[in-house]
Amino acid sequence: MNRRSFLQRTAGGFSAALAAACQTGGGDPQSFRSRSSYARRNPVQTGSVRQVTLTASPGDVELGDGRRYTKWLYNGQFPGPEIRVQQGDRLQIKVVNNLPEGTTIHWHGIPVPNPMDGVPGLTQEPIPPGGTFDYEFVADPAGSYMYHSHVGLQLDHGLIAPLIVEERQPHVAYDREYSVVLDDFLSGEPQPLGATGGMRGPMGPMRGRGMMGGRVPPYEALLINGRLPSDPRSFPVRSGERVRFRFHNPSGATTYRVAIGGHQMQVTHADGRPVQPLAVDSFYIGMGERYDAIVECKNPGRWPIVAATVEGNSPPARALLDYSDAAQSLPSQDAIPDGLTTGRVLELADLQPAEEIDLPGGSPDQTIDMVLSGGMMSSAWTINGQVYPNAEPIEIHEGALVRVQMVNHSMMIHPMHLHGHFFHVRNVLKDTVIVPPHMGRANFEFRADNPGRWFFHCHNVYHLEAGMARELRYAG
Ligand code: C2O
Ligand code: CU
Repeated sequence: MNRRSFLQRTAGGFSAALAAACQTGGGDPQSFRSRSSYARRNPVQTGSVRQVTLTASPGDVELGDGRRYTKWLYNGQFPGPEIRVQQGDRLQIKVVNNLPEGTTIHWHGIPVPNPMDGVPGLTQEPIPPGGTFDYEFVADPAGSYMYHSHVGLQLDHGLIAPLIVEERQPHVAYDREYSVVLDDFLSGEPQPLGATGGMRGPMGPMRGRGMMGGRVPPYEALLINGRLPSDPRSFPVRSGERVRFRFHNPSGATTYRVAIGGHQMQVTHADGRPVQPLAVDSFYIGMGERYDAIVECKNPGRWPIVAATVEGNSPPARALLDYSDAAQSLPSQDAIPDGLTTGRVLELADLQPAEEIDLPGGSPDQTIDMVLSGGMMSSAWTINGQVYPNAEPIEIHEGALVRVQMVNHSMMIHPMHLHGHFFHVRNVLKDTVIVPPHMGRANFEFRADNPGRWFFHCHNVYHLEAGMARELRYAG
């Protein structure tokens, strides 16, 4: 299949498949285990102290096409350096700001104490140019996380990186592991889409508008671990190995469908939390989401690992699963794994937890309904018609079981992310959930166990900047 017909098929067919994959239904309260007593979140340090310095500054990036791009980077790297610690370690991170404007870092997915959460205007003032800030928190629980700037559109300027908290005892066995970072790469500075139109792309502005009914930034390319599809990163494996891939999506505005040629993936973690292994041929991953999957290497060759956008026009991001004990020719540039168009797609409803979790029982103490909309008449993106920061904080109460019910009145995907907490969606814990377009719905519940002022927002950074955010504030 050539790229154009592939794109047409995904563009036409994705809505139904995505909606099925993201179906979160009504929450099935009858399947919940009994409510356990309330305990405030209070992780204790059980490991060592780990000190890291991150310097944010402008720098040059090479993607492998012989060009240099000036981006904003952590420690001169793109993506930024992976931070890897053990569960229970205490992380002390000094951030040095050598950017021309203020910045913060958010530790995406880790329920840190509120003052460490890195949200400007909510938990701290931006670190001024030339300034420093010390973040400190206990790395708990284990999982695949990310860190990124939380000021303006800085995330799409290059300030993204993976953060791994290793389990003491993984619930699955594997021989080696790789972090996979999916990114939509801008050659220039990110601009608010309302101001520029931002609808240029390989197929022209009207095509972009017609396909999406919205706005996609003019990305140069989709990358895996900072490499162009024409010069893919290779992940060496050997026959017989079980390899754990940690897929992270810190993209500015791209949801992907991911598949690997010649191999199924056993999904083992959703947003870092362990799930019972589930074999699939592909999965959707929205901005802010992470999935870990184990691949059993028993089909020697060089196989494409492909991440195709479901809302834009860019060619898919690519990497290679590369059996080092089998000499094989490279897959062709256009090789599209069958799993991207056929086979079993991960559905949230099929996941079961692999840990004892405090599933809420009974009815919620508070229910919050949210209508997500925008992208039609103005450049604003809204929750219940309000445009953050001109939006009312939502008060919640410590200890309460809070239910959030969302419906998407727009034509774009909204991966909604809650800071400071994991939430129950279907039977598992996550921190980010896709609300599919065209009246798609998603619901979740969480225990209010981490007092503070917490951000809840769409992780499409352009939607966030254009107002699709709210503060959840613990009352009293
Ligand atoms: Cu990774 Cu408020 O986000
Ligand atoms: Cu959105």
